[in-house]
Amino acid sequence: MKKKLFIKTYGCQMNVYDSERMADILSPLGYQQVEEPDEADMIILNTCHIREKATEKVFSDLGRLRPYKEHREQQGKKTIIAVAGCVAQAEGDEIMRRAKYVDIVFGPQAYHKLPEMIAKATRQTNGVLELDFETYEKFDALPEVKNTNGISAFLTIQEGCDKFCHFCCVPYTRGAEVSRDIASITDEARRLVDLGAKEITLLGQNVNAFHGESEDGHEWGLGRLLIHLAETIPGITRWRYTTSHPRDVDEELIEAHKHERVMPYLHLPVQSGSDTILRAMNRKHTADFYREIIEKFRKVRPDIAFSSDFIVGYPGETDKDFEATVQLVKDVNYSMAYSFKYSRRPGTPAAGLANQIPESVKEERLALLQHVLFEQQTQFNLSKVGQRLPVLFDKKGRHAGQVIGRSPFLQPVHVIATERVIGHILDVDITGATQNSLTGAIVLDIPQVA
Ligand code: SAH
Ligand code: SF4
Ligand code: F3S
Repeated sequence: MKKKLFIKTYGCQMNVYDSERMADILSPLGYQQVEEPDEADMIILNTCHIREKATEKVFSDLGRLRPYKEHREQQGKKTIIAVAGCVAQAEGDEIMRRAKYVDIVFGPQAYHKLPEMIAKATRQTNGVLELDFETYEKFDALPEVKNTNGISAFLTIQEGCDKFCHFCCVPYTRGAEVSRDIASITDEARRLVDLGAKEITLLGQNVNAFHGESEDGHEWGLGRLLIHLAETIPGITRWRYTTSHPRDVDEELIEAHKHERVMPYLHLPVQSGSDTILRAMNRKHTADFYREIIEKFRKVRPDIAFSSDFIVGYPGETDKDFEATVQLVKDVNYSMAYSFKYSRRPGTPAAGLANQIPESVKEERLALLQHVLFEQQTQFNLSKVGQRLPVLFDKKGRHAGQVIGRSPFLQPVHVIATERVIGHILDVDITGATQNSLTGAIVLDIPQVA
């Protein structure tokens, strides 16, 4: 009999990818993924540790699972509860100690051992804890991709991070930086095409630190990999990658943006515009170094759009430091951006600093920064009104008859059309824009299928 598997995914796209792979691993064991947790025989929380709020949500979700499990037990049904991902890696022992109803806790580099862990968990009453870092072994052990988010697919090419920014937990939860080899990436890309992908986003915590081995034993950077994939994988006309670090941008990557299949969009987090703060954060670059990179990309691809991540209220941040961040935003002119209040992460160097910024100041700065960023985002969207853009349609909208796709610049585009357009790239005349999306009309619909 089929067993029901429910996976809740928090955090970044790499977790989305990992959750899909977990479903792949569990399907030969008879687990079928379901959209709702009701009556699930196994529940996996694939967690994120990046900020306090992300972690708190996991613990409150976990609290709700206890009565669920007990209720099912009374009916003679077993439920396996597993905690995966970055909270598991960072606080695995604590979870095992505090939440005895959790059966399995495993880190991001151990999920290829899920069948083994499930077998153990059904045999023993005390939980199973698996927090080893064996990234290479994991990729070799994973089955072929079966579950993907379809038309716009993710492909993890690199994991972990050696940068150790002083605010960040990722180097501790994801481990050292490692790259997959070119052959396995190419195979997986072909497989994604077979499964219906039209766009692929290459993923890595530090994706442009990629240095994968090719079949002739050479090391390739991300730029070379992108060109190789764009030239050899049939059917994928849109290549993206995320997340990049300014220090790992090289000429080859910049040049790769000349290729029409490499999308004119780049998420390049800067965090702060103040050199004092960048130094304190251990970011290993200055604000001007970042501005120069932006210029280089714009030279090869004048229409390229940029997004970024910002942290306000890092320990010691003065009004002047904050103003430098606002200035950098004005200089770059972003198409969108994520901004966060600094959050103390246990075990990171910045968490122990004495000069923490009061919550009220963080809030005030975040509001000011977001005001500027949202205005830029709105202006960017408005600048596309009157243009004709190719849009990859990937889902139905919330309203009847509405279909949603993405522009090359990753803007959501809403049109009224039949669902047949889903999976196709069609030209759209952009007629309207808001802060978050564009609206328009398809120029020529796809031919009617007989
Ligand atoms: N590897 C990427 C992204 C890491 S996490 C990079 O180097 O940029 C995504 C974003 O979360 C970061 O860019 C940062 O802006 C934010 N972030 C990370 N740690 C944080 C913390 N302690 N407090 C607030 N924001 C944080
Ligand atoms: Fe975290 Fe910095 Fe690594 Fe990004 S580069 S994952 S922010 S340590
Ligand atoms: Fe969160 Fe881990 Fe990703 S901490 S952002 S899930 S790498």
